[in-house]
Amino acid sequence: MDVHLREVDADDRDAVERYAAVDNAVRALSPWVHPTTPYRVEMMLRNGWDGEPGRHFLVQAAGEDVGIASVDTTEYDNLDLAWVNAAIHPEHRRRGLGTAAFDSVVEVARGMGRTKLGTDSWDDEPGRSFAAARGWDLKSTAINRRQHLGELEPGRADRLYDEALAHVGEYELERIEGRSPADLLEPLAVATAAINDAPLDDLDIEDEVFTGDRVAAYENAQLASGFRLYRIIARHRGTGEIAGLTVATVDTERPAQGHQHDTSVVRAHRGHRLGLWLKADMMRWLAETEPRLETIDTWNAESNDHMIGVNERLGYRVMARGLEFQRRI
Ligand SMILES: CC(C)(COP(=O)(O)OP(=O)(O)OC[C@H]1O[C@@H](n2cnc3c(N)ncnc32)[C@H](O)[C@@H]1OP(=O)(O)O)[C@@H](O)C(=O)NCCC(=O)NCCS
Repeated sequence: MDVHLREVDADDRDAVERYAAVDNAVRALSPWVHPTTPYRVEMMLRNGWDGEPGRHFLVQAAGEDVGIASVDTTEYDNLDLAWVNAAIHPEHRRRGLGTAAFDSVVEVARGMGRTKLGTDSWDDEPGRSFAAARGWDLKSTAINRRQHLGELEPGRADRLYDEALAHVGEYELERIEGRSPADLLEPLAVATAAINDAPLDDLDIEDEVFTGDRVAAYENAQLASGFRLYRIIARHRGTGEIAGLTVATVDTERPAQGHQHDTSVVRAHRGHRLGLWLKADMMRWLAETEPRLETIDTWNAESNDHMIGVNERLGYRVMARGLEFQRRI
């Protein structure tokens, strides 16, 4: 099966809409997944996660859109690594198009000088069998949990906040809406790097490198993409050090949808319930500022017992398991 990858440009409205249409046909097979929108696709193409947008493609066969594909890389770290993916429209499966699309994105990644590849899928068929058939090794599993705010008993966030408060002692919380002040960017980069302690299972990935500029680029990318950005930091009173942080965003296009980003507590400050305190306070803050918010999604490695323990106390429940694969070329 011959496929052609047509790279999608953020300014090409027609291609953006067609990409969103195929993506939504694929998402519809996983009913817990929120649909995307042309605006979301355009923002992903313009800004990415932290200012390094990936490359996204329409997979075409005989002039028809049969799938989508992507290659994501960073220049901050892991210079030999690319995350690649392809999804085939449900009406066009089992004709070899997925194989051809994957072969094509792998070649794109190779052309970018990347030899260590990662990909992911839901823990389902076709994901498992396709990856195995194409020579990918399963390296890690991750769980998508979601907090449904409407089903939580009133006062839960306050109760958990108070429980943590009784243990935290030497720390205080600061809320930052939107961009962080310039003098906080370097210390935030240091605290953000604590995310490198999150379990990777067997994934062959180097530590991520965080700088003040990267923190600023992340905040700019999220805001430019139409997300409201909420950050809470925990400070150690004695030293003024940032001991931990949590970040959540709310989609301005669909303000019922929130996303939990990083939560990290710096190693020297672990064991004081800062994780629970930060996230309980985030719930309280969002309850004040985001009255239309209905759900918040989070992802954790399945082996990340500490973070998952906190999330379950906050009322997050499992939506699905994801699989992460790697192969070398
Ligand atoms: C995975 C996906 C890209 C496959 O697309 P496709 O065009 O159907 O794939 P192919 O026809 O090239 O299938 C290649 C092989 O994968 C395996 N496979 C594909 N779908 C399968 C299924 N539903 N059950 C079991 N094995 C499957 C088979 O070994 C198949 O070979 P065969 O048809 O000769 O038996 C498609 O199902 C998809 O878009 N899924 C959602 C996104 C995703 O999971 N991507 C994979 C990341 S690893």
